[in-house]
Amino acid sequence: MKPYDLNEIVSSDKSHLWHHLTQHKPLQSTDPMVIVEGKGLRVKDINGREYLDAVSGGVWTVNVGYGRERIANAVRDQLVKMCYFANSAGNIPGTQFAERLVEKMPGLNRVYYSNSGSEANEKGFKLVRQLAAMKNDGKKHKVIYRDRDYHGTTITALSACGQSQRKDQYGPYTPGFVEMPHCLAYRAANGDDPDYGVQAAKELERVILEQDPDTVGSVCLEPITAGGGVIVPPEGYFETIQEICRKYGVLLHMDEVVCGMGRTGKWFGYQHYDVKPDIVTMAKGVASGYAAISVTVTTEDLFNEFLAEPSDTMHYFRDISTFGGCAGGPAAALENMRIIEEENLLDNVNQRGAYLMDRLHELKDKHQLVGDVRGLGLFVGADLVKDRDSRVPVDESVAAAVVADCLRQGVMIGRTNRSFAEYNNTLCLSPALICTNDDIDEIVSAIDIALGNLSQ
Ligand SMILES: Cc1ncc(COP(=O)(O)O)c(C=O)c1O
Repeated sequence: MKPYDLNEIVSSDKSHLWHHLTQHKPLQSTDPMVIVEGKGLRVKDINGREYLDAVSGGVWTVNVGYGRERIANAVRDQLVKMCYFANSAGNIPGTQFAERLVEKMPGLNRVYYSNSGSEANEKGFKLVRQLAAMKNDGKKHKVIYRDRDYHGTTITALSACGQSQRKDQYGPYTPGFVEMPHCLAYRAANGDDPDYGVQAAKELERVILEQDPDTVGSVCLEPITAGGGVIVPPEGYFETIQEICRKYGVLLHMDEVVCGMGRTGKWFGYQHYDVKPDIVTMAKGVASGYAAISVTVTTEDLFNEFLAEPSDTMHYFRDISTFGGCAGGPAAALENMRIIEEENLLDNVNQRGAYLMDRLHELKDKHQLVGDVRGLGLFVGADLVKDRDSRVPVDESVAAAVVADCLRQGVMIGRTNRSFAEYNNTLCLSPALICTNDDIDEIVSAIDIALGNLSQ
């Protein structure tokens, strides 16, 4: 890397960059954070300060950790050989990764490449719309999504978004997207009922019947809701969802953009449950951020619906994503998958995840502010409340203060970030799949100190 002038970079950043999800006014008097290096779970900023990254690149992405030369080399080798060709033609890593991927997803077989989670989900929605158009004059076209879930940033992905603050001011939205209630027991009136999981899932049936089953094409769900507050579905939830989908001929679309590729201790989040999705989308952890890649995987049955005589000008999936043809993405994804296998990272996620959960329960015992802790694998959250009995969430400023205090201590944690007006109160942790108990101790100790500082 060429030497750079620290002040020049910071000043150019302030003059020209428009950062994601950022109010820039405070940056008129402070400097932005610029990350320049990473190794394992640690990153360094431009001032040489090191941080333990407990959120895998901020948004659940760098699953195998920073500084993996073998992924960089695989991408480099691929780029010099053949960087790009539109995906109407095949390429070698794209074909190899597709084969390796579907081996891990029994019942699914077709792999469609694009380059962001939002786009992968849009493909899922487009498949549903076109299938409806081909089979019944477009009638069975609606997509049901769930309160608190997020599926991406484009206008149509936001049309399927259950996070009010994310959606505000960006409408009007695409018609045909209908919301169903969330399944967070901690914040449901009937959440203590042993049958809550089944009851929460039956809300899907209520919405389908309300809409008319002949108009509903799919339901799109996160296996474990991520930015909406780390919501692990209650027992019986997905099995009931699956039954309802079968009963009404509704396709099940699982958004694995966060859970995908090991984060929850299995390759995919849906594999914790007895479900057979028709569409699975993934992005972030597929190549751990070493290259941009996203994937929409479908059953062979769904794919077959799009087969017709070549003279038929309309009856095939008439969709393209230019950068879905970048060969560096699947080259990185292949190497990323090999690392997860060779280093037994799924086992590590299960063991370290259990340890992280135990440590968070200790925090809950110690701090009244922690109302609920939940998660699966290395994907956990702590719901902060003003009062344990009323469960009233803390103001977002409290969660923000904890995050800022941890950062001062050199630990990056996340939180539900301006997603809902009243529930921006969950701390989110998702360290890389390679993390150790010592890393977890460091993370938990920083949160412990930050929570302690709040009550002083
Ligand atoms: C569950 C889920 N789906 C989809 C997306 C959108 O992915 P992208 O930002 O790559 O478009 C995200 C992003 O955070 C996500 O969390």
